[in-house]
Amino acid sequence: MIIGILGGGQLARMMALAGYPLGLRFRVLDPAPDACTGHLAEHIQAEFDDPAALRKLARGCDVVTYEFENVPAGALEQLEGTVPLYPPPAALRYSQDRLREKELFGRLDIPTPNHKPVDSRDGLEAAVAEVGLPGVLKTRRLGYDGKGQTVLRKNADLDPAWEQLGAHALIYEALIPFERELSIIAVRGRNGKSAYYPVPENSHCNGILRESRVCPGDPMQQPAEEYAQRLLDELNYVGVLTLELFQLNGQLLANEFAPRVHNSGHWSIEGAETSQFENHLRALMGLPLGKTTPLGHIAMVNFIGHLPGTAEVLACAGTHFHGYGKPERAGRKVGHGTIRASTVEKLQTELERLKKLAMPE
Ligand SMILES: Nc1ncnc2c1ncn2[C@@H]1O[C@H](COP(=O)(O)OP(=O)(O)O)[C@@H](O)[C@H]1O
Ligand SMILES: [Mg+2]
Repeated sequence: MIIGILGGGQLARMMALAGYPLGLRFRVLDPAPDACTGHLAEHIQAEFDDPAALRKLARGCDVVTYEFENVPAGALEQLEGTVPLYPPPAALRYSQDRLREKELFGRLDIPTPNHKPVDSRDGLEAAVAEVGLPGVLKTRRLGYDGKGQTVLRKNADLDPAWEQLGAHALIYEALIPFERELSIIAVRGRNGKSAYYPVPENSHCNGILRESRVCPGDPMQQPAEEYAQRLLDELNYVGVLTLELFQLNGQLLANEFAPRVHNSGHWSIEGAETSQFENHLRALMGLPLGKTTPLGHIAMVNFIGHLPGTAEVLACAGTHFHGYGKPERAGRKVGHGTIRASTVEKLQTELERLKKLAMPE
């Protein structure tokens, strides 16, 4: 069985690592000559919408999936109908446009921050008048890791924000003074059966995920599962889907969803009975899903721009090291560490050590 993946970064790499024990082989399409999944899978180096490369990717593959949202529409059209493609492209199309995504949340009665589309400088004025300050102006498309967005706190911020982003279709949304950021990682099989991981609490810095911490028994688990289930059922979904959430006054607001495995689920590799990567593949292949039960108290720390020494990381008790085989560059995710502990106190001690290694400055 061969799985094709659009994108050959660390998510594809961890998918491949999870898939080999299942007897699967992998083929990735990625324009980067040094795509890090290339170390362990067949790598087709070409643009994502290159027709010959897409034919080569699909030929002989049992299923094609993707590791990022911004798959060009042309690539999807060329693949659809030639090979089973999961998660369903409809999910991808919603997640590619922050406005359509929020409209979907609205239709499914999933609360989301107050927002307005913005297509002109006057439109920005009107959106700020309606939604209020502070708010976040975001490009509707192609944003990731906090890129393509800026916070507006006062009227004087409108001009520079428009200068920065006005060339794109935009959305303006209320800046939520959340108590916590959470995410729910859900998986649905071809037979419609679904499973949910315990929600991690996530901390971001400059729009990039720094840390995820799993709190088994979180009071927000049930509403988070309910919202994720509405999306899974509406989209007749197959694979892993991640819903990012803000908690405000004890209620959840949906920020965005990703139709794929997610950084806030990396803890599940060693921290859950079945990892998000394995369950994604099981779903795609029509295999029974594995249990998502957490194995203790767990935290994951991203290594951003700098990969700490393997020995130092492994000296933290109960810690597992992941390096993605990518050169270090400011703002780039180059690895992560996961800690599994039997008590919250032990987790806290090792987490402090690991965070110091991750951020030596
Ligand atoms: N409306 C908002 N209110 C408060 N914080 C926000 C809002 N939108 C984004 N953020 C912060 O910025 C981070 C990245 O924004 P997000 O919309 O998730 O874009 P990306 O696609 O880059 O992940 C969020 O995880 C959150 O920390
Ligand atoms: Mg996000």
